[in-house]
Amino acid sequence: MDFFDVIRERRSVRKYSSEPVGRDVLEKIVAAGIEAPSGCNEQLRQYVIVDDPETMETLRGVSGALAGAPAAIVLLVEPKGTPYGEFYIQDASAALENMLLAATALDHAACWVEGAVRPHEQAIRELLGVGEDLRVWSLMPVGRAAEAPARPKKSDPADVVHYNRYGTRARPDGP
Ligand SMILES: Cc1cc2nc3c(=O)[nH]c(=O)nc-3n(C[C@H](O)[C@H](O)[C@H](O)COP(=O)(O)O)c2cc1C
Repeated sequence: MDFFDVIRERRSVRKYSSEPVGRDVLEKIVAAGIEAPSGCNEQLRQYVIVDDPETMETLRGVSGALAGAPAAIVLLVEPKGTPYGEFYIQDASAALENMLLAATALDHAACWVEGAVRPHEQAIRELLGVGEDLRVWSLMPVGRAAEAPARPKKSDPADVVHYNRYGTRARPDGP
């Protein structure tokens, strides 16, 4: 798939078929996360690939956005600063976006499930055997889509793009 088609066609999918996802696919998606940039290259991220049916059943209970998902990647982050500031939120986000795009490129569906995680963080930590030194940052269900969400309205560039100075919307001559 063309890179820009991948970006445009990625959708948050919240209903999955039960078709299992190959480990090779899940590992490729994680490899895309690992490749993401990180502040000071600290790479404070860990990835739990979940494809065990029993564990998945419990994980699906966390959010309706995992409905039917046969697998998930749980992104953990070490909430640690660097000499230049705290970047772990951005680090985790960069990895997650890379993984969403990788899933799309591999013809699989996924979703960024974060909001629902926080109230369940302790339960997920226990389920997956994660220590207190790590935050359970996001759950990313992975599978074949059982729904085809329409592309939600995205910003019109005319409303959000400025040239050289905020407020200059008209595209000036340039290279
Ligand atoms: C930080 C963040 C948290 C999100 N949390 C959830 C979530 O908990 N549950 C969910 O169904 N979708 C979640 N989403 C997905 C958004 O709802 C989705 O990206 C948005 O509606 C736009 O749709 P699209 O991804 O198909 O372009 C989250 C997205 C982001 C970036």
